[in-house]
Amino acid sequence: MNNTLITYKDLFSWGTNELQAEKNTSEYESKYLICLLFDIPLKKFDSILNTKAKNQKLIEKFISTIKKRKKGTPLAYLLNTWFFKEKKYYVDKGVFIPRPETERVVNATKNLISEMNYELTDITILEIGFGTGVISIELAQLYYDLKILSWDINTQALINAKKNTTLYKTKNTTFINKDFFEDQKTWGPIIHAEKPVIIVGNPPYIPNNHIKNLYPIVWQNEPIDALAGGTKGLDFYIKLFEIASQGKNNSLVLEFGLNQETLLKKIINSYKNKKIHIISAKKSIPKVLVVKNIYY
Ligand SMILES: C[S@@+](CC[C@H](N)C(=O)[O-])C[C@H]1O[C@@H](n2cnc3c(N)ncnc32)[C@H](O)[C@@H]1O
Repeated sequence: MNNTLITYKDLFSWGTNELQAEKNTSEYESKYLICLLFDIPLKKFDSILNTKAKNQKLIEKFISTIKKRKKGTPLAYLLNTWFFKEKKYYVDKGVFIPRPETERVVNATKNLISEMNYELTDITILEIGFGTGVISIELAQLYYDLKILSWDINTQALINAKKNTTLYKTKNTTFINKDFFEDQKTWGPIIHAEKPVIIVGNPPYIPNNHIKNLYPIVWQNEPIDALAGGTKGLDFYIKLFEIASQGKNNSLVLEFGLNQETLLKKIINSYKNKKIHIISAKKSIPKVLVVKNIYY
């Protein structure tokens, strides 16, 4: 690429083209990298496309970073930063990288909270598998009065989420480094109480024997615990529905994988009380499941 007089649009097209092997992510990766390196707010990206990128050093950094990415290291790990809800979050190697589609878990939780006739102080959020902490920290920034308890089995995730808590100065999140399913003594009393609970998350949902069908950049770098969801990828959902149904006022907002909708609906339909809403997306993008007040 001739580096003189090039626009951000030229950089974006070049980066997208270089990353075309991962066609679902190449555009947003190229865009995020430009915004992170040149310190451009994501929402301004479209308006600067025809502007000349003048900083030669940063242009070279952009090119060399894309080359490193092509050799197999995710951009978020190369920069230790990634965007979520247009904000910068720390991302450590060994922790699942937040994806743009997961922003819809935050939006759906927000909608559910606004439909509930409860004071915020009465509602508890339980996040299963917090990773970098993005879902909990976004909710904590929206609702200072909400109590948020979050679990992750990965010790590096705890360190990472704490950095993000410090970055955004959130006070109402508690991050717990344990297997959620082994920590009944913490969540049991909350789940069984009369007050409303929303279980949120982006659980591991890849069927175990499909993991190697993902792009190599994913399974060669991101933790297996963040991906493997059992034979059909539904192990977490089955267990979480059972847990939520132990009380009468518990709901769930969970991202789920491609081709899992029919099976998930079948499992949920075995519960007598529930209200399901699926937040649709393009065929190639995971959807979000909202289940209100699930119990037998
Ligand atoms: C797909 S990642 C989602 C991370 C983050 N919520 C996000 O969307 O970026 C799933 C997370 O669940 C965690 N996890 C897996 N099994 C777990 C368990 N039994 N208890 C708690 N966390 C678990 C993994 O370590 C991983 O961080």
